[in-house]
Amino acid sequence: MEKREKLYEGKAKAIFATDDPKLVIQYFKDDATAFNGEKKGTITDKGVVNNLVTSRLMGILAAVGIPTHFVKRLNQREQLIRKVEIVPVEVVIRNVVAGSLAKRLGREEGERLPRPVVEFYLKSDALGDPLITLDHIDVFGWATDEEVEAIVEMSHRINDALVAIFAGVGIRLVDYKLEFGRLPDGHDTLVLADEISPDTCRLWDMETNKKLDKDRFRRDLGGVEEAYHEILHRLGLD
Ligand code: TMP
Ligand code: ASP
Repeated sequence: MEKREKLYEGKAKAIFATDDPKLVIQYFKDDATAFNGEKKGTITDKGVVNNLVTSRLMGILAAVGIPTHFVKRLNQREQLIRKVEIVPVEVVIRNVVAGSLAKRLGREEGERLPRPVVEFYLKSDALGDPLITLDHIDVFGWATDEEVEAIVEMSHRINDALVAIFAGVGIRLVDYKLEFGRLPDGHDTLVLADEISPDTCRLWDMETNKKLDKDRFRRDLGGVEEAYHEILHRLGLD
């Protein structure tokens, strides 16, 4: 398998073509941004950690029957994935109140939700990923009704699996963001895409509530690299 031209570069990752039109390489950078790119920095070896964590979690999710774009981890910063068309809707799943939910609705961070809450955001850097409703998704054609139904169903199954994985290593999965993609297989088959990492999850130590995720960077809490490494360690990947 040969690596070819760069197809796309985002804030934290880049996508490269391969000699197989169905496969691309996802490269994880150390670049970190927050607040829609307003705050910029780097987190040393973040790309290495996020590649390892994403590879492990996508592998476990595939094993419990969630279709994903993940094929295999290639090296420290790269993984082979199936090429997809990303659905322009970011899905946030919340188990505990934090972040924008706390702010928007005036709730206390840390409040346990009685059931997981699923939210949708439009994937648009220009607009700062605004919160959207199911009706917006339908009326603007960002995803079909069938796709939305599949996304919600998969998100709940993913949540059950991820909550259990993290609880098993003493971590509370507070909330996280998922992206889905359509395979170019003639059926637009939906698969889980993008990444699942301390960049895209809120992960709190169950005993101390210490934040072990990108909020340490967003909120200038210090100990950012150490937190990312702690997640690697808990998952037995270091
Ligand atoms: P929020 O509370 O800021 O809406 O974030 C909810 C979760 O989604 C949190 O775990 C961080 C993650 N997230 C991303 O992965 N990318 C983003 O652009 C944003 C805003 C949040
Ligand atoms: N990555 C996003 C950005 O830079 C937001 C975040 O993760 O806080 O806008």
